[in-house]
Amino acid sequence: MSTLSTSLPGGIWTLGDLTVTRFGYGAMQLAGPGVMGPPADHDGALAVLREAVHLGITHIDTADAYGPRVTNQLIREALHPYSDSLHIVTKVGATRDEQGGWPPARRPEDLRRAVHENLENLGLEVLDVVNLRLGDAQGPQPGSLAEAFETLVDLRRQGLIRHLGVSNATAEQVAEARSIAPIVCVQNMYNLAHRQDDELIDELAEQGIAYVPFFPLGGFSPLQSSALSAVAARLDATPMSVALAWLLRRSPNILLIPGTSSVAHLRENVAGAGLSLSDEDLAELDKIGR
Ligand SMILES: NC(=O)c1ccc[n+]([C@@H]2O[C@H](COP(=O)([O-])OP(=O)(O)OC[C@H]3O[C@@H](n4cnc5c(N)ncnc54)[C@H](OP(=O)(O)O)[C@@H]3O)[C@@H](O)[C@H]2O)c1
Repeated sequence: MSTLSTSLPGGIWTLGDLTVTRFGYGAMQLAGPGVMGPPADHDGALAVLREAVHLGITHIDTADAYGPRVTNQLIREALHPYSDSLHIVTKVGATRDEQGGWPPARRPEDLRRAVHENLENLGLEVLDVVNLRLGDAQGPQPGSLAEAFETLVDLRRQGLIRHLGVSNATAEQVAEARSIAPIVCVQNMYNLAHRQDDELIDELAEQGIAYVPFFPLGGFSPLQSSALSAVAARLDATPMSVALAWLLRRSPNILLIPGTSSVAHLRENVAGAGLSLSDEDLAELDKIGR
């Protein structure tokens, strides 16, 4: 296991045998509008990725569905050859259609192809962590993941994947995955205002499994709440900083992957997540999503 010390807010976490900073970076926002096509500012996108690594971030979240292929190719262009401390987490199980939709692609042949394409686009021999992306754009949907997850377990056995996770999953699907093979993370939608996974987060924390909220800042519609604004104003901070600091405080197994296409926002988010929240602040923020 690598050792890593960091001055980033939140410190470190281990995904299996991989040490990552709890403050990571989500690359989805680097693709064009609607997460389709190339970014308007190619060099700006490369600069964001390089700044993330420069700031000490060692966890980047991505997928070939972003663009499609665009964010993985940007990551490769900006950062390859990768430093040993950098861990790229990708996901398979959804593809893109011409309208920008996200149809599922979870047949064994889809998943095998997706793993090979991720390896190629990222320029890697082994993928550090692969999440099986379940459900649909409306959120998690019930149903067995066995066939799809077993396909990934097989690809891991072949040496193409180090660790597995699930995404957009119900608690039952998380349990089903764990009955088949160990997982190191669950990546679901969660933030101050959307707390449907509170119980799952606590359970995973007890098991040493990371919970990685997507849309930590609200995603395509930024978090808005009068209570959040009031706490932010009192602390002379931005609502984004409060939202990130709250997630780091919420549970030690929460890893942040806020997305941004801006170097300035990236720096702001890293600095802001270190904000210290009082018990009074927490009590007030706790009411938002309850
Ligand atoms: N598993 C899944 O199904 C799934 C689904 C969605 C996302 N994800 C992953 O989760 C990551 C995070 O989600 P996300 O990027 O969609 O949403 P997010 O992190 O909640 O929010 C990103 C949005 O916030 C804005 N933003 C960030 N920092 C800001 C700041 N300091 N001030 C003002 N605006 C700021 C960004 O705009 P700017 O670009 O202008 O900064 C962007 O529009 C993604 O990058 C992706 O890797 C996974």
